[in-house]
Amino acid sequence: MSALISGLHHITYLTSGAQDDYDFYTRVLGQTLIKKTVFYEGDFPRYHLYFSSDAIGAPGGVTTTISMPGVPEETSGRTPSMIIAYAVPGNALEAWQRHLQGHGIEHGPIETRFGERRLRVRRGLIELDLVEAPSDIRKPNPSPHIDQSIAILGFHGITIPAGDPNAMGAFLTAAWDCETGDVDGSFTRYQQNGGGPAAVIDVWHVADMIAGGWECPPGNMHHAAFAVADDAAQLRTLERLDSRGYADTRPPVHRGYFRSIYVRTPAGAIVEAATSDIGFLRDESRSELGLKLKLPPFFEERRDEFVETLRKIDPLVI
Ligand SMILES: [Fe+2]
Repeated sequence: MSALISGLHHITYLTSGAQDDYDFYTRVLGQTLIKKTVFYEGDFPRYHLYFSSDAIGAPGGVTTTISMPGVPEETSGRTPSMIIAYAVPGNALEAWQRHLQGHGIEHGPIETRFGERRLRVRRGLIELDLVEAPSDIRKPNPSPHIDQSIAILGFHGITIPAGDPNAMGAFLTAAWDCETGDVDGSFTRYQQNGGGPAAVIDVWHVADMIAGGWECPPGNMHHAAFAVADDAAQLRTLERLDSRGYADTRPPVHRGYFRSIYVRTPAGAIVEAATSDIGFLRDESRSELGLKLKLPPFFEERRDEFVETLRKIDPLVI
């Protein structure tokens, strides 16, 4: 069967405040706000912000945050979260260290995994990596906050912690279009599409890790979405999951800019298959992306109430 899944589409965090999200992703990481909306589930308005490495939110470089102010972050006994790796140009990490220090953002030393230089960045409980990818030719959207010569190009890949790396690897190869690659220490590399941009998955063996469930508190990546072409490919992905014994899934739902299915993997990590056939230009022109609060039709008649509630509980000034 030909591949249904073609690399990362977007990632979604649960966080503690929209203003912090906006400031970190635009001013520190140089991303562009391309959509300002709310979480589609529940009856209570929560900001759902979409940040992109490019101008239009192409799959492979979209980071989203669902803000949950007032909900406590769990700091003890937490399950390790997935760690996204953003691709940056070659020889960019020393400049990134200086940039992060200028913003008071904690970071680690420059390390090497699978021969690639990478830098760990910490934003509270959330950790992310910057990885030098000199062969990545994607063009970032210019940002006033970061020198274009070191700007993030999109996703490089993702690290998934797993207590049983073999079970996670079996999922990736049997149901998620991955090929097994090399081993480096406690990491096994899997790739989609031969390992192009946004198509690298490192399974990280974390001994004695308890696999997480569907719910998690703020300060975590909730899920990582991978790209499928359309509804038909998504349905075939769901059927394949079921036929291979991965039945802890959620059926298709419309997220406004893509359709989504979700599966809880053997590592506990939630992954999604999101369609690439709708996109963020559906309800805003390219020059207007991210400027207005966009609500789904079923919330539109409550716009005034939502705006007032958000202003009180989670003020966001852009
Ligand atoms: Fe998602």
